[in-house]
Amino acid sequence: MKVLVIGANGKTGRRVVRRLKASSREPLAMIRTPDQRPAFDELGVPTVLGDLEYPIDHAVRGCDAVIFAAGSGSRTGKDKTVLVDHLGAIRSMVAAAVHGASRYVMLSSFRADPRSDSRIKHYHRAKGLADDFLRTQHEVMEQSLEWTIVCPAGLTEEPGTEKVAVGKVGWEPSGEFQTSRDNLAAALVDSLDEPNTVRREFVLIDGETPLRDALRSV
Ligand SMILES: NC(=O)c1ccc[n+]([C@@H]2O[C@H](COP(=O)([O-])OP(=O)(O)OC[C@H]3O[C@@H](n4cnc5c(N)ncnc54)[C@H](OP(=O)(O)O)[C@@H]3O)[C@@H](O)[C@H]2O)c1
Repeated sequence: MKVLVIGANGKTGRRVVRRLKASSREPLAMIRTPDQRPAFDELGVPTVLGDLEYPIDHAVRGCDAVIFAAGSGSRTGKDKTVLVDHLGAIRSMVAAAVHGASRYVMLSSFRADPRSDSRIKHYHRAKGLADDFLRTQHEVMEQSLEWTIVCPAGLTEEPGTEKVAVGKVGWEPSGEFQTSRDNLAAALVDSLDEPNTVRREFVLIDGETPLRDALRSV
């Protein structure tokens, strides 16, 4: 299975690429600049240049699946939140549908909501609007994506445990909670193997349930 990783050079994206490579998958890393290539060359992973603000059909063509791990980040303006996290994400979904990459796994966010009134509502709204399109894409296009939406909490560099807790979108866990990028990357990749995660969306935090069991329960 050839899997395009969008945002491959990011902290989560690099983990996604490594996990795909370690499994029987064929990752294709979408990066923004040629200087990002050597890290992927070392892994033996092919790269393609692409920017979500422009057409990425060339990157998606020939892929079976897409994992979206990109994000405009907190250091750019709200314009980039719209152009990358909202419209760029939708651009990638349209390209996936048109070019037959029927499986699409979205790294979304805890509290993503088109009507968010949070402190970072521009971001939560952009992610929520992109997720909305993914859920309803089949209503406006002939092709239907088999989607999964994974909503992590605050991301950490904690080593992965592959033990997590999952809940319905809207779930507000009690106490302190966070999501290790290792666990998140594992969930994004392993969702490809779990038919149960198709057309499902879930909150993912670090917890006590083995990842595979958690994915089967969503
Ligand atoms: N941080 C949190 O606590 C948190 C919580 C919940 C959800 N999330 C979501 O998780 C995502 C991934 O987190 P992370 O820490 O792995 O992020 P990251 O390290 O900032 O990686 C984001 C990646 O997106 C790429 N990117 C940015 N603009 C792009 C564009 N126009 N076209 C293509 N790629 C583009 C970046 O490319 P370059 O490498 O070229 O800059 C980078 O590789 C975040 O963006 C956010 O949406 C984050």
